[in-house]
Amino acid sequence: MGQENRIATGILVPPHVLALKAYEPGLSAEEVQERYGLARVVKLASNENPLGCSPRAVECAQLALANLARYPRGGLALRQKLAGLFSVSIDNVIAGSGSEGIISNIVRTFLNDDDEVLTTEAAFLGFQVLARGRGVAYRTVPYRDWHYDLPALADAISPKTKLIYLANPNNPTGSFFTRQAFEQFHKRVPERVLIILDEAYYEFGVVEQSYPDSMHYRFDNTITLRTFSKAYGLAAARVGYGFAHADLIAVLLKVKLPFEPSGPSEAAALGALDDREFMLRSVANNARGLDYLARSLHGMGFEVAPSAANFVMIVLKDASEAKIIFQNLLERGVIVRPLATTGLPHCLRISIGTPEENEFLMDALGMVMEARR
Ligand SMILES: Cc1ncc(COP(=O)(O)O)c(C=O)c1O
Repeated sequence: MGQENRIATGILVPPHVLALKAYEPGLSAEEVQERYGLARVVKLASNENPLGCSPRAVECAQLALANLARYPRGGLALRQKLAGLFSVSIDNVIAGSGSEGIISNIVRTFLNDDDEVLTTEAAFLGFQVLARGRGVAYRTVPYRDWHYDLPALADAISPKTKLIYLANPNNPTGSFFTRQAFEQFHKRVPERVLIILDEAYYEFGVVEQSYPDSMHYRFDNTITLRTFSKAYGLAAARVGYGFAHADLIAVLLKVKLPFEPSGPSEAAALGALDDREFMLRSVANNARGLDYLARSLHGMGFEVAPSAANFVMIVLKDASEAKIIFQNLLERGVIVRPLATTGLPHCLRISIGTPEENEFLMDALGMVMEARR
């Protein structure tokens, strides 16, 4: 490791870590409100649940606060409950600090220095950072019409490929791949290659007829990941879960931090599972909002990537156009997500809000585009 990897304190840092950029949280609604002196600000930037979360989840988290002095039990109660709900053994279930926390465990558990990971271009940023931060070779194939190009991914598998990451529906495009496409792809993946099927947006995607619910397959080399951050509205609690062959879960549990998820977070997740009505209401609000936004954005002449998630991605002329529209929307009180760090500088991602928030966005965007003519 050369001198150039030494930071000011004298410590040597691996080059693949130095090359990363620290995650920058977008501006909060309060910051934007203050900065531009606005009466109303709508945040449609982080694919959060615009309806909040179930009161039952809050109540359970509050009750759990009485136990703050005790270490939690590694998500045991949540794993038990999920095993029952999905008719699998507790040995097939893991719970952690968000699904991103579980991706971090997978990366630490299974990757050796000379392994290679394979995914699509501009994949979910969290995965990019965790895989690149591990210092392994990171290979991608381009999107095809904003979808994963699964045949090209299968073609790209090499003897060094150890891990394939697929998000379905995908972030940031919102697109999903079908049962048929996935089944054909899976036949071409050697048993020695681990597949992460990241279903963070499962509850929104599963309403599509041809959506492949990875739990139907239970392939030995596939880990399904899901989260309480989206349809259950518990992003701040940081609870995710995964299903896989018991042997995969057993090695993951060797590496996982023993006390994640935290006690109040696990309690919130357990409470959220008891309020299915809230989750279904969130999914219904999303379906209406997605339809409205996709139609309205098309109507305004934007290219919109097809979405089955809780956001849409618009494709602009170039990076400069994307930057200007982002900034102009911000000044009118709408926060959306620029995608330059993800690898799509000419695109913006817009989360689905409540009906009022969606209309507020479309009004603001209408004014922004009118002023640009
Ligand atoms: C595809 C995908 N996977 C995982 C996550 C992380 O979710 P969590 O909050 O459970 O860590 C996100 C969050 O945006 C995501 O878009």
